[in-house]
Amino acid sequence: KVVILDFGSQFTQLIARRIREAGVYSEIHPCNVDPAKVKALNPQALILSGGPSSVLEGGCPDLAPEYLEWNLPTLGICYGMQLLAHKLGGKVVSSKDREYGRAEFEALNDSPLFDGIENSDKLTVWMSHGDRVQSIPDDFEIMGKTESIEFAAMGNRERKIYALQFHPEVAHTDQGAQIINNFLFKVADLKPSWSMSSFVETCIEDLKRQVGDDKVVLGLSGGIDSTVAAVLLHKAIGRNLHCIFVDNGLLRMGEREEVIGFLAEHFDLNVKVVDAADEFLGKLKGVTDPEKKRKIIGYTFIDVFDREAKNIDGVKFLGQGTLYPDVIESESFKGPSAVIKSHHNVGGLPETMNLELVEPLRELFKDEVRRAAYELGLPEHIIWRHPFPGPGLSIRILGEITEERLQILRLADRIVQNELIASDWYRKVWQGFAVLLPLKTVGVMGDGRTYENVIALRIVDSIDAMTADWTRLPSEVLARMSNRIINEVQGVNRVVLDISSKPPSTIEWE
Ligand code: XMP
Repeated sequence: KVVILDFGSQFTQLIARRIREAGVYSEIHPCNVDPAKVKALNPQALILSGGPSSVLEGGCPDLAPEYLEWNLPTLGICYGMQLLAHKLGGKVVSSKDREYGRAEFEALNDSPLFDGIENSDKLTVWMSHGDRVQSIPDDFEIMGKTESIEFAAMGNRERKIYALQFHPEVAHTDQGAQIINNFLFKVADLKPSWSMSSFVETCIEDLKRQVGDDKVVLGLSGGIDSTVAAVLLHKAIGRNLHCIFVDNGLLRMGEREEVIGFLAEHFDLNVKVVDAADEFLGKLKGVTDPEKKRKIIGYTFIDVFDREAKNIDGVKFLGQGTLYPDVIESESFKGPSAVIKSHHNVGGLPETMNLELVEPLRELFKDEVRRAAYELGLPEHIIWRHPFPGPGLSIRILGEITEERLQILRLADRIVQNELIASDWYRKVWQGFAVLLPLKTVGVMGDGRTYENVIALRIVDSIDAMTADWTRLPSEVLARMSNRIINEVQGVNRVVLDISSKPPSTIEWE
């Protein structure tokens, strides 16, 4: 396994991705982690990430001396390079001109890092730095330069320490993945062995070891993350996993049956379905403010879950579908003076419940969870299900939430889902759903005037939900959705299309 020490670069996660794509397991740790903890992981190679600091400033994040004593194959990137140069006897200076973006790089001296790289005398690479190395340590050789930097790559073949001023992990760097692979396979002599099936196997073994004969309680939402977490835990500990599915009355049509039905049928999962719709809808009565709705749903969920969990005798663990980006977000190194935030847990559940956490997905990225789901034999309709927010339909019903309005939205939303699937667009869009607006408009049906609800269609493309754009669906698909909703859903006489991007809008309307 490879350990990446994070010095605060925005690209650190990308380094981990590239290494995993090469079939090697990697873990990110903050640069000030206790070296004994890293030693215990028995890493076979070390990568020092970039970062926003300057080695010329007092109090900059440092590399503990142990790391260099272990004689591990090491790759320093950007700040990591400057740190290596600084610590091993070279000199770093600050340049007046910060360099961001594209540069042309020339590899020198047949470095193993650039083995098999095409056109290695003029590679486009991506730079992002203020300082630069002015002289390299005595026992190092120069391995590449750019027009403005004499030492853009350096290395010591014998000690297997290499360093790059540019970022091989970003997509803009030509053949960057190959450069990282060269470090892994030609310098560090690693063999690709990390795959999803090996992950699933070792994960189940690890869970068995961690949990033993104790009980785990897990909140099943029907989303892919908690579903995969549940199936992994189930394979490890069987009926000692107690899943709680809280039906808050704000789910989409058929959602509860679809998820629970499948899991119960194929996995003999221990699931308690809690029908708490009245409790949630009671507390939401008369509430129209979006933030209030979210808060009420948040604390009511904790109440219900807590109550149900207490009914299970001798639970010791709380299972959660936390993903790697959430872990990194809360543990990553945030600069020289920042302390590392402790892991925040969803809704503050563990604090009130005094349970130990078990998080089988904490090493995975979202698309890796989907691959794990395939590996575990989950069906496509669960694997590709669009994200659905915790507060459910409540934030898609603008204004007050009533049974009647929920029913209107459920019917309209089902038509949107069906038409996306029928037209083969479902998997191509990030999310597609209906929103019920808090207003009525005039229409004409048959010979009569109507005065009824408006449904908005929100269908977006996105990679990570951070940014999004409205999907340019063919007008025939939109026309079918509109016709069907107005004809089939009583109480709706108008359908409109949301054509805003995020930002400045958001995906959900509340
Ligand atoms: P916005 O509306 O902020 O949504 O653009 C971004 C993504 O997050 C989902 N979303 C939520 N998911 N709890 C969740 O689990 C929530 O409270 C929540 N609010 C929004 C939204 O569906 C979209 O995918």
